[in-house]
Amino acid sequence: MFGFEPARAVTIGDLRELARRRVPRMVFDYIDGGADAEVSLRGNSRAFEEITFRPRAAVSTPSVELRTTVAGTTLELPFMLAPIGSSRLFYPRGEVAAASAAGQAGTGYVLSTLSGCALEDVKTASRGPVWYQVYLVGGRDVARSAIARAKAAGFTGLVVTMDTPVAGLRERDIRNGIPQLLTFKPWTMAPYLPQILARPRWLAGFMRDGGLMTFPNVVLPGTGAMLYASVGPALEQSVVTWADLDWIRQAWPGPILVKGLLTGEDARRAVDAGVDGIIVSNHGGRQLDTVAATLRALPEVVDVVRGRIDVLVDGGIRRGSDIVKALCFGARAVLVGRAYAYGLAAAGETGVSRAIEILRADLVRTLKLLGCESVAALNRQYLDIPVDWGQPSDAAGARC
Ligand code: FNR
Repeated sequence: MFGFEPARAVTIGDLRELARRRVPRMVFDYIDGGADAEVSLRGNSRAFEEITFRPRAAVSTPSVELRTTVAGTTLELPFMLAPIGSSRLFYPRGEVAAASAAGQAGTGYVLSTLSGCALEDVKTASRGPVWYQVYLVGGRDVARSAIARAKAAGFTGLVVTMDTPVAGLRERDIRNGIPQLLTFKPWTMAPYLPQILARPRWLAGFMRDGGLMTFPNVVLPGTGAMLYASVGPALEQSVVTWADLDWIRQAWPGPILVKGLLTGEDARRAVDAGVDGIIVSNHGGRQLDTVAATLRALPEVVDVVRGRIDVLVDGGIRRGSDIVKALCFGARAVLVGRAYAYGLAAAGETGVSRAIEILRADLVRTLKLLGCESVAALNRQYLDIPVDWGQPSDAAGARC
């Protein structure tokens, strides 16, 4: 992309700043913001800062192993790209760009149901594993046919998001006039248009890419791809319950992971339901605000699961050292959301590749500085955990 020199983005924070300059405020805030007072959004990142490392000095680690396996899928990196709806608004054909970058790096991409690119195109774009994230928008039959398409296209994992019985209140979106802009009534939209006109380069790309996206993976009977403005009400009518896992299991023969759990009780239910993995997540602080930071919820889930299925975590990860801390607590791998979404909004596929490279280099450096030769050898002994975090049982560190 003209003007973007990847090496000048040293951190994910730098990519965030570049994204802020390239896309309209309402798009940036949609990525960056959280629900209500954004307490959980901030808490996710802060939790990583509360944990300090206990390195082993004078250990030679000429090479470090980052490879891991999640629900039977081998990844070259212990992180995957999280499902992020509407990525096509950040950059032309955004989901295709992000999946391609993930595949180049040897890691996986999780495609949101609420994406602007057809799932077949996203699969074709990646040479790595691609998983499909399910919302029941449009109802069970609509989801069932998307799952059948995903299976036929070669997706290898299914992620069922369980924390979205209704969309959280993203206050920034309301203030930026997203509801008004979606009315398509000129006088209603007018006060909010300057933020779009202030980003002509983004606007040109958006128009070339076909204007406002629809949802080609949510095909409604009779009317076709769901329209963008319909998503709010559709989410409210599409609550996923534990009972849904029965028919989803019938429809999908491969691994199923449930995303959005935060407690040991729900982790037990997930194990009993026979899923293959749990993603501890509070949706990046975008759903119920003031829930626990995900890093704090992780040990409880790891303890309950006791290695029977894989546990992943997401939320607030902006550095490789954050990933290392999550792995020390017993996560098999993590998902990163905004960390790559900022890169996508800043510079498309090049920006996502830069985000992945920043995290990969951080991981290698952090492991070497810790004196640990592989992600599989990480455990709680590498961490100093504040007393007020309580005592996670040894199960958290027993993975290795
Ligand atoms: C999300 N997330 C999300 N999750 C999901 O299951 N389906 C979705 O469509 C979306 N959409 C979405 C959009 C945007 C803009 C964001 C930032 C997040 C949640 C996402 O998968 C992940 O749980 C969080 O992003 C993790 O937190 P961090 O890494 O962004 O802090």
